[in-house]
Amino acid sequence: MASKKPNVIFVLGGPGAGKGTQCARIAETDDYAHLSAGELLRDEAAKPDSTLGKEINEHLKNGSIVPVAITCKLLENAMQNSDKENFLIDGFPRNQDNINGWQKAMDGKVNIRCVLFFDCDEQVCVIRCLERGKASGRTDDNTESLRKRIITYNESTLPVIQMYEKANLVKRIDASNDVDTVFQDVQSVLSSIKSSN
Ligand code: ADP
Ligand code: C5P
Ligand code: MG
Repeated sequence: MASKKPNVIFVLGGPGAGKGTQCARIAETDDYAHLSAGELLRDEAAKPDSTLGKEINEHLKNGSIVPVAITCKLLENAMQNSDKENFLIDGFPRNQDNINGWQKAMDGKVNIRCVLFFDCDEQVCVIRCLERGKASGRTDDNTESLRKRIITYNESTLPVIQMYEKANLVKRIDASNDVDTVFQDVQSVLSSIKSSN
């Protein structure tokens, strides 16, 4: 992590909304590191010597949220191991526990620049995840896990987005459009943030 206080953009939206796809593109074109909370959890669970694998895998399959102490530590380590000053934190914070844990560990240490909210119809999200599931190897890209992930999203993550909306931090993007159109909208948001520096 650079010596300056890092800039953080939280990236939220339903399962399959396109968060990972867009973050990967941003990381290619702009000076951001892309940290996906879900990806970090999957990587940790896949380590043969991980003591957390069983617990994490249970949550992944059930679409429930892993305790923040685990997720936040993985994010913090990834930030510390990066030489970037700008971070896209994808899929976090997903619930109030995530917010509380982040505040405890990171309060005052980073600048939260905005929350990129990829807004996408539930049906479209399901179709995208099932399509992704044909090749992803993920244990949660199936109808049963998706049903649970959508409940978690509606019950736990939407209130987080609403809370950030009240704080005027949310940049909403219509994520049901094609990848290029969504990316153009993302770039407008990123330019508006840069110009407010
Ligand atoms: P998330 O990280 O939000 O769960 P992903 O970026 O992994 O979503 O995208 C889910 C699936 O949908 C992937 O297979 C991806 O290729 C596809 N996808 C992403 N964005 C779009 C889009 N705008 N239009 C159509 N398909 C998309
Ligand atoms: O964002 P992604 O779809 O990769 O997340 C997959 C799963 O990882 C979630 O359904 C959840 O079980 C877990 N996760 C979590 N806490 C986060 C992000 C993801 O528990 N902040
Ligand atoms: Mg993703």
